[in-house]
Amino acid sequence: MRGGFRGVKDNFPKVAVLTVLGVFLFLAVKGEPEAVAVAASADRVARGRYLVNAIGCDDCHSPKKMGAQGPEVDPARRLSGHPEGSKLPAPPPISDTPWIATAAWDLTAWSGPWGVSYAFNLTPDENTGIGSWSEVTFVKAIRTGRHMGVARPILPPMPWTVYRNLSDEDLSAVYAYLRTLPPIRNRVPEPIIVEPTQVASQ
Ligand code: HEC
Repeated sequence: MRGGFRGVKDNFPKVAVLTVLGVFLFLAVKGEPEAVAVAASADRVARGRYLVNAIGCDDCHSPKKMGAQGPEVDPARRLSGHPEGSKLPAPPPISDTPWIATAAWDLTAWSGPWGVSYAFNLTPDENTGIGSWSEVTFVKAIRTGRHMGVARPILPPMPWTVYRNLSDEDLSAVYAYLRTLPPIRNRVPEPIIVEPTQVASQ
């Protein structure tokens, strides 16, 4: 008994410090988590906005309108991918020259030895964009170069071999920012995929 009492007495400063710490931790955990989470996600979205604005997603994924200096991003359809229903003539045949790819005027559709690819809808529309994609799906697609991280190879010129070098935090931030865009319903056409043997015989 005496030993026990002396134990507490000798350790009084430690016990007091731990109790005070405990109270702080309790208050911190009880009162702050939402505020902390909101601040963290606001930072993440800001980082994502910075990245998307700096590393060129708009070049291919945003429909354009013609401005004084040529095609410019149409803010009303930003990042919604190649416009559904836009009529494009057949791409020029692949020629035996060093010029191997052709882009539509707004850079949302491309043709080359791989076939014809259409930039995807990156807005969070549930059915036609990335609305139903989890962060894991998004990150896996960019890291593996496969559609939704598991299916067919993602076609050129989507620069996934470059973007896969982004850190986990940055890819997560890009995803978080894309989720804050207004969802735009726009079903991008399926690509036309040319098998390598067809290319060889063309
Ligand atoms: C040089 C043009 C280009 C740029 C720049 C570009 N993309 Fe793409 N992206 C494409 C094309 C084309 C496709 C469609 C490829 C296909 O259908 O296989 C695509 C597809 C995608 C897909 C769908 C992948 C899947 O699973 O099917 C995602 C996600 C994506 N891009 C994200 C981005 C992000 C984020 C950025 C900016 C950091 C970006 N892209 C920049 C051209 C581009």
